[in-house]
Amino acid sequence: MLEGFVPVTAASELPPGSMKWVVIDRERVLIANVAGSYYALRDVCGHAGAPLSTGELVGYAIECPLHYACFDVRTGKLLSGPVSGDVPTYEVRVEEDTVYVKR
Ligand code: FES
Repeated sequence: MLEGFVPVTAASELPPGSMKWVVIDRERVLIANVAGSYYALRDVCGHAGAPLSTGELVGYAIECPLHYACFDVRTGKLLSGPVSGDVPTYEVRVEEDTVYVKR
């Protein structure tokens, strides 16, 4: 068991180019697979609170479904849109078929 990490999903359930949301400590967390690497970030847009997991994932960019702010899924950095802040990210590890996120 990885210290401080919680298992969130099976890696095989999240093929490249896809994403899903999970709950960790009552907070929605988006898990994305881009080209075989897994990323985790807060599933809440800092503008009006839309769930980013219902937006579009295009390469490493995730687009908010509400007003189309774009964030880099690797860093949470704002790329464009009507938001002033980045989205918090979480450390991710994969062991065998399990994706873990650090809380
Ligand atoms: S809620 Fe995401 S850009 Fe407005």
